[in-house]
Amino acid sequence: AQVPVNVTVTGAAGQIGYALLFRIASGQLLGPDTPVKLRLLEIPQAVKAAEGTAMELDDCAFPLLKGIDIFDDATQAFDGVNVGLLVGARPRSKGMERADLLEANGGIFKPQGEAINAGAADDVRVLVVGNPANTNALIAQAHAPDVPAERFTAMTRLDHNRALTQLARKLGVGVTDIKKMTIWGNHSATQYPDIFHAEVNGTTGAKAVDDEAWLRDDFIPTVAKRGAAIIEARGASSAASAANAAIDHVHDWVNGTPEGDWTSAAIPSDGSYGVPEGIISSFPVTSRGGKWEIVQGLEIDAFSRERIDASVQELVEEREAVRKLGLV
Ligand code: NAI
Repeated sequence: AQVPVNVTVTGAAGQIGYALLFRIASGQLLGPDTPVKLRLLEIPQAVKAAEGTAMELDDCAFPLLKGIDIFDDATQAFDGVNVGLLVGARPRSKGMERADLLEANGGIFKPQGEAINAGAADDVRVLVVGNPANTNALIAQAHAPDVPAERFTAMTRLDHNRALTQLARKLGVGVTDIKKMTIWGNHSATQYPDIFHAEVNGTTGAKAVDDEAWLRDDFIPTVAKRGAAIIEARGASSAASAANAAIDHVHDWVNGTPEGDWTSAAIPSDGSYGVPEGIISSFPVTSRGGKWEIVQGLEIDAFSRERIDASVQELVEEREAVRKLGLV
């Protein structure tokens, strides 16, 4: 029998955790033939709630689920981890400045990076979901010097999926008719969803739409501000769709992206497309043999350049801010 894969989920008692754990345990993260062991990390006050979720996981009798352990200590939670889903983070409270937010998250992602460095399996892969996701991933990575840098990624797949549906609606096509969507930059309101390289039934997304005003004033802000619109409508932030995107990200990382398509993920820049090396920025990516690769050779026009640069600039500033705090 196959050895179970250890999946550590932080913030396991939160709303994304609740939407995520059942899908991992049912086999949707790694595929229908891969048994999993869940390692849940929570803060002490939320351990009891995590235990409740674990009871429900037991009650599903998932054939692939080979164990659930719950921790309030990062070193234990990441011991032997193969896949780390870093969901728990410190949200911005009223009046909190960016530096305070980054510092509070440094207090979470620095020790978690250290724990990953100390105990993770050789093939560990990390996806940071907790915001500010790109910079939190950078902090964790900085404290795991023995783990290859490329194993630290942040999630822009939700933005990617949002962009697919918005474009499909506009064009009256199905989401599977659209290939090669791209999210560039930061998982924030500055992100740039790019339809110039998207393919839709033999043409590009931008040509099929043929409406720059819609692209600029409707599509881009709708995708970039979708998180706020969900909060406004639901009274709570995106949870099931965020969990779904986390499943998609890790599934494609491990199993590969389909031939003739790509996806979006925030991965450490190698300097491609003028994105400073080391920044964890969203790119068009394919996955082969368990590794992300940035799609090369795309022509970037002035409209896209300006927007990519603005989002990357925000990431550079976040890196500067966490450098000043001694977090990277
Ligand atoms: P939530 O508040 O429902 O749950 C967060 C959980 O994390 C809580 O149970 C809390 O106790 C736990 N936690 C806090 N600090 C922790 C620590 N040091 N170790 C372990 N657990 C800890 O929040 P929700 O809705 O589940 O969202 C989680 C994060 O995901 C937020 O930062 C949110 O902004 C982010 N997010 C990111 C998205 C993306 O596309 N990248 C999309 C949606 C949400």
